[in-house]
Amino acid sequence: MRLDYLTIFPDYLAPLQLSLPGKAVASGLLDVHVHDLRRWTHDRHRTVDDTPYGGGAGMVLKPEPFGEAFDELLGEAGGGGEGVTVVVTTPSGEPFTQPLARELATRERLVFACGRYEGIDQRVLDHARTIAEVREISIGDYVLNGGEVAALAITEAVVRLLPGFMGNAASLVEESHEGGLLEHPVYTKPASWRGHAVPPVLLSGDHGAIARWRHDQAVRRTAERRPDLLHASAVTGEWVVERAVRADAAEILTLQLACWVREAVANDDLSIPPLHEDLATVAESLAEWDTYVVRVAGRLVGSVRGRLDGDVWDIGRLMVAPDQRGRGLGRLLLEHAQAVAPAGAASYRLFTGKGSADNLRMYKKAGFGVREVLDGPSGPAVLTKRITRR
Ligand code: ADE
Repeated sequence: MRLDYLTIFPDYLAPLQLSLPGKAVASGLLDVHVHDLRRWTHDRHRTVDDTPYGGGAGMVLKPEPFGEAFDELLGEAGGGGEGVTVVVTTPSGEPFTQPLARELATRERLVFACGRYEGIDQRVLDHARTIAEVREISIGDYVLNGGEVAALAITEAVVRLLPGFMGNAASLVEESHEGGLLEHPVYTKPASWRGHAVPPVLLSGDHGAIARWRHDQAVRRTAERRPDLLHASAVTGEWVVERAVRADAAEILTLQLACWVREAVANDDLSIPPLHEDLATVAESLAEWDTYVVRVAGRLVGSVRGRLDGDVWDIGRLMVAPDQRGRGLGRLLLEHAQAVAPAGAASYRLFTGKGSADNLRMYKKAGFGVREVLDGPSGPAVLTKRITRR
């Protein structure tokens, strides 16, 4: 992965040469370039900022130095904007989260534009969007003096996800925010220290009991420290149903393709729409539908979505990874999709192929009835259920 940083304080980014990122640079996994934005100024004072139009306190970073920097780094000589994401660090950006780190880790190249003062002239971002993907990202609801520290934090979270970066990849799936929960407490030797004993279950050798204890601790900790994470999700045994975020789109698409091949076979119909969607369509649908996902060990293994049409709550794209079927996850997702229907909904509706026997069985068992079968190669069958509220 190639990383570029545009900053007026290049020294701030010296830590990139240290520790794990430093090693990754030495091993060739990362190609890091820190640029002084003043390189693209032409006046004696190497001016990068000016007063804001419309008045107000503070200074704004001028468009010209960024424009020339993008010309050089993202123009033809710089390899173009294909596969590049420009990350603009700003307190008014979208929140930086683990799913977003995972998404950025899939990019070939990241170009960080570090803000300072009151921010960067908006036209810099508008222009960059014509060349490459642009993400304005905040690392938290507080204001730093500039975007360099945020760029470092984002870099570290992204780079450690790159294949080959961490010595032990398993440690990536067992940590906080993977799976929607904070991590359970951890202990090492000695078994008793200054009168504090390690919880006996961890010494029991019973792996099932240890896994259950860790899960309980993770849920408890999350409830205490980050109830907002639990409100966004429903914790059910091993499964945590979370609201999907835009960064989940690629994994949802992959799961969708895997699931609808089976549907195509069951219905002898290759024209089923979910088999023909692309990443952009799935990403757009996340804005239009309330979409939920379930992860197991960090992997997205289930999803469902719902949307109100008049007083009908449409449920769709119920999917479970092939290796996770038969354990009740589909049922759980169906229950969840019903439970989140808004107050104005009077009935549920869903569609499935008329040849999808397993789906039809599950839906009927959940109280849905076939209302009609549409006239297509695979139907589909339209199933509905009246909502009864107690
Ligand atoms: N620049 C200043 N504050 C910031 C924040 N919270 N996140 C990202 N960039 C910033």
